[in-house]
Amino acid sequence: MSSVNIGVLISGGGTNLQSIIDNVDTGYINGSIKVVISNKENAYGLVRAEKKGIDSIFIDKSKYQSTEDMDKAIIKELQDRDVELVILAGYINILSEGFIEYYQNRIINIHPSLIPSFCGKGFYGIRVHRAVVDYGVKVTGATVHFVDKGTDTGAIILQDTAYISPNDTPEDVQQKVLKIEHRLLPKAVKLYCDGKIKLDGRKVILE
Ligand code: GRF
Repeated sequence: MSSVNIGVLISGGGTNLQSIIDNVDTGYINGSIKVVISNKENAYGLVRAEKKGIDSIFIDKSKYQSTEDMDKAIIKELQDRDVELVILAGYINILSEGFIEYYQNRIINIHPSLIPSFCGKGFYGIRVHRAVVDYGVKVTGATVHFVDKGTDTGAIILQDTAYISPNDTPEDVQQKVLKIEHRLLPKAVKLYCDGKIKLDGRKVILE
């Protein structure tokens, strides 16, 4: 199979982006990162991309009338580079319907909990792990899923678990889950690039 052109959207530190960069470098992922786009100017993920000579772009929301307009600008950058797969690696904005339709079943997101728990509106970053600790669950984890028009509702590709110890703080849980994310996201991207993911309704069949 030919190598897949990848675009990565970020808003922050980009440790998940780094896991994709590293796994493309080793050849584990049969893909090539064409561009990294951030909606935050000082996102460290942009520096990670620059260090690898990957095109890195800050898209400034204040320059656009609406999310739709901003998303059109992002799509243009992706189209210019023939991007076939979009990875949301800590991208904080909700994508517009137009974006999701354009890249239907070609957008992958990583969420730091076991969906359908601790997900949806307002569940992002450390808030997820605070809610997990406050609820007192014993197990949490990470989920990689396709993006549909809902928030964190798309078909699930992979999940993995982390156990919570009695004295874990939200920050401790975050670190445990991040470790899982850095294995899970590259694995899902590899499966996608190898053409091994099939959709049956909202069920994902891995070949
Ligand atoms: C991760 O926990 C990811 O699951 C969530 O946002 C965080 C991004 O972390 N969507 P990083 O920027 O990849 O370090």
